Amino acid sequence: MNILILGSGGREHAIAWKLKQSPKLNKLIIAPGNAGTAAIGKNVPIGVNDIEGIKKTVLSENINMVIVGPEDPLVNGIHDFFLNDTELRNIPVIGPKKAAASLEGSKEFAKQFLFRHNIPTAAYKSFTSDSLDEGYSFLETLKPPYVLKADGLAAGKGVLILNDVQEAKDELKTMLVDAKFGSASATVVIEEFLAGIELSVFVLTDGKGYKILPTAKDYKRIGEGDTGLNTGGMGAISPVPFVDKEFMDKIHEQVVKPTVEGLKKDNLPYKGFIFIGLIKVGDDPFVIEYNVRLGDPETEVVIPRIKNDLVEVFQAVADQTLDAIDLQIDERTATTVMLVSGGYPEAYEKGKEITGFEKIEDSIVFHAGTDSKDGKVVTNGGRVMAITSFGRDFRDGLSKSYQNINKIHFDNMYYRKDLGFDL
Ligand code: AMP
Ligand code: GLY
Repeated sequence: MNILILGSGGREHAIAWKLKQSPKLNKLIIAPGNAGTAAIGKNVPIGVNDIEGIKKTVLSENINMVIVGPEDPLVNGIHDFFLNDTELRNIPVIGPKKAAASLEGSKEFAKQFLFRHNIPTAAYKSFTSDSLDEGYSFLETLKPPYVLKADGLAAGKGVLILNDVQEAKDELKTMLVDAKFGSASATVVIEEFLAGIELSVFVLTDGKGYKILPTAKDYKRIGEGDTGLNTGGMGAISPVPFVDKEFMDKIHEQVVKPTVEGLKKDNLPYKGFIFIGLIKVGDDPFVIEYNVRLGDPETEVVIPRIKNDLVEVFQAVADQTLDAIDLQIDERTATTVMLVSGGYPEAYEKGKEITGFEKIEDSIVFHAGTDSKDGKVVTNGGRVMAITSFGRDFRDGLSKSYQNINKIHFDNMYYRKDLGFDL
């Protein structure tokens, strides 16, 4: 099997690393990839939204399957493009079509889906510039904090949580009238605030059956104690220690089943990952978001725990035979710590040489923002590398990751030393 992975982060390196272990894999191409993927496959310098470039690569490299890492190409309709192209039609794409990708591409669409299928989620109303005054009145009826969400994709920055009602009104106006997040905030969802602890559940579906993958928890804030700006994710742990059987059963019955059934009822055939962002309020799960892909850095702890041949699993998604797969999960805990460039998530420098990562034993190094230059590996992004370890529990896993990080160096390297502090 010749496989093309789209993306360039730690998520894509983790998927590539796992596919590489399959005897069924022949050729592995990553577009555009990073220095980590270049070491196990072939990188091609094509952007994830360069649909013509992707088509050329698929045809010239005899690709048999495409795995889409990030949400952008899915929301832009890459799967539909393949189905509508006579030369690409029979090449399976793992990732939903444009209509179902709206679960991530439009918060309003996701909220409507959740309510239509009776899946627990925060109460909400949505507004446009024409209904700004109604938005102000709605905010008056809520208690702080106020949750404002840009409807469209805003690179993970489109959610604002504000304590003061006047501030919330001002931000609502900035989003709707001054296009704070461009067209993404032409519609804004205002939501009831839910207080609880967050976790994520990953589901893989072929449109008929589904498999629940390991749970994970990521750490989104840059600063210790969950302070400071939001990032793509500073580390992750799988499984989530506070998810016992009873809570998992609730997630399964109240969230996963109605989600997969809802997609069928709404005629949204779906082949790919569903990333369900949950918040545990008391003893109950509430959905705060859907993503139509795997998470990053959650993938760096979820994928290593899957024991099956991932090529076989993806082939079963393509063939709609996922029910026949016996998914085997490693009982151990996996943890990952993200090394980032100093300054991230604001301005940071690139091109810093990374040393010491080759010496690491007993942890897995997943590259994120890295590149190769003059035979050296250099930083090429805010999130640079994720160091994944297995342990008896998350403390054991994290201590291995932290010990190994001591061997790695690049200028202005930063990472959170307190992962798991809230567990
Ligand atoms: P989202 O992009 O929808 O995941 O929102 C980003 C972050 O905002 C989430 O990870 C939560 O920490 C927080 N958040 C979103 N919605 C709510 C809510 N209704 N109540 C409390 N926190 C929320
Ligand atoms: N780590 C969060 C995400 O991938 O969206």
